[in-house]
Amino acid sequence: METASTHGYLMLTKSNHCRNEILQAEVNYLGQLRHPNLVKLIGYCCDDHHRLLVYEYMQSGSLEKQLFSRVCNTLTWSRRMKIALDAAKGLAFLHTAARQIIYRDFKTSNILLDADFNAKLSDFGLAKDGPMGDQTHVSTRVMGTYGYAAPEYVMTGHLTARSDIYGFGVVLLEMLIGRRAMDKSRPSREHNLVEWARPLLNHKKLLRILDPRMEGQYSTRTAMKVASLAYQCLSQNPKGRPDMSQVVEILEAVQTKGENQEEAMLQSGSGSITLFEVPKQVEGTPKNEAHSVKSRSERYNTPNTNKHMNGRHKSEPPKEFDLYSPSHTLDLMKDENQLQESEVRIHPVKQFQGE
Ligand SMILES: Nc1ncnc2c1ncn2[C@@H]1O[C@H](COP(=O)(O)OP(=O)(O)O)[C@@H](O)[C@H]1O
Ligand SMILES: [Mg+2]
Repeated sequence: METASTHGYLMLTKSNHCRNEILQAEVNYLGQLRHPNLVKLIGYCCDDHHRLLVYEYMQSGSLEKQLFSRVCNTLTWSRRMKIALDAAKGLAFLHTAARQIIYRDFKTSNILLDADFNAKLSDFGLAKDGPMGDQTHVSTRVMGTYGYAAPEYVMTGHLTARSDIYGFGVVLLEMLIGRRAMDKSRPSREHNLVEWARPLLNHKKLLRILDPRMEGQYSTRTAMKVASLAYQCLSQNPKGRPDMSQVVEILEAVQTKGENQEEAMLQSGSGSITLFEVPKQVEGTPKNEAHSVKSRSERYNTPNTNKHMNGRHKSEPPKEFDLYSPSHTLDLMKDENQLQESEVRIHPVKQFQGE
């Protein structure tokens, strides 16, 4: 379960099943980096009995929640483009750091949004140092999430920053189309979003497949520009993908000038934008489940517990693909006092300033 504390912190306890190296990566990377588009790790505790991480609280939750939950439907075109730009800046910062960092788990549930919908990357559990010196790639066990991992990485275990760019393309596509990267509730040829939608991105049919919730909020020209960017990021050939600084440049250029007009529409309730639609209750689903971050995160990240993820699609990676399926329990501790009462020693983290 996850809730805000009054001090603007969120405390997550990672269960004992959570692998140590994942926790360590989170503390090593997030603890040392500071950038407006990376979530702040404020402190941590890791001893025999506790696995606790304290972050700044991101009030609007994850992009996954905002994009796919029926209760939250406030993502206009310009908001999505701003989120894409923020996330791209976060990735560009990692890729151009003195010692390059590959994020490796770029997906909507790891992009968090603050009260003003500024986006920040979180969850550095799978992050890895990029190649050094003459190395062209890092060889590593394949880990990631179905639907987001780059094909060459899944096939060979060769990891480069370009694998992140593929993941970025998947998220951009999800934002454009308004569908999940993998969705087994759709007809079989549409299960895998990239396979189904990528060929349509450079086609007149594009306008028919864009998320209908954004209708009337973008110009055809801009939509085609962003679709073309997603197309390139999703190139099968890693060298055909742009690098993150090019992605940032393109996204800077498409930030909607009509944003104010669009937000005004939202505020006045005019136009065809649906706000805060009452959730339709799925049969057999407890009422409060739609609001439970933990259950949603589990459903999304743990293929074995998700009935939609049980069967393996032909485009999915082979069985040895080691899915990151953390079984974290999100556990809120109300505030710092409560934290002290619980006799947990929190280590503050010192961070280095980014750009
Ligand atoms: N700082 C935060 N503020 C608000 N919600 C958060 C925060 N950190 C995590 N969450 C919520 O918890 C979910 C899972 O967190 P994450 O760190 O990605 O753990 P996991 O390893 O389970 O993926 C996120 O998708 C988000 O909904
Ligand atoms: Mg996560």
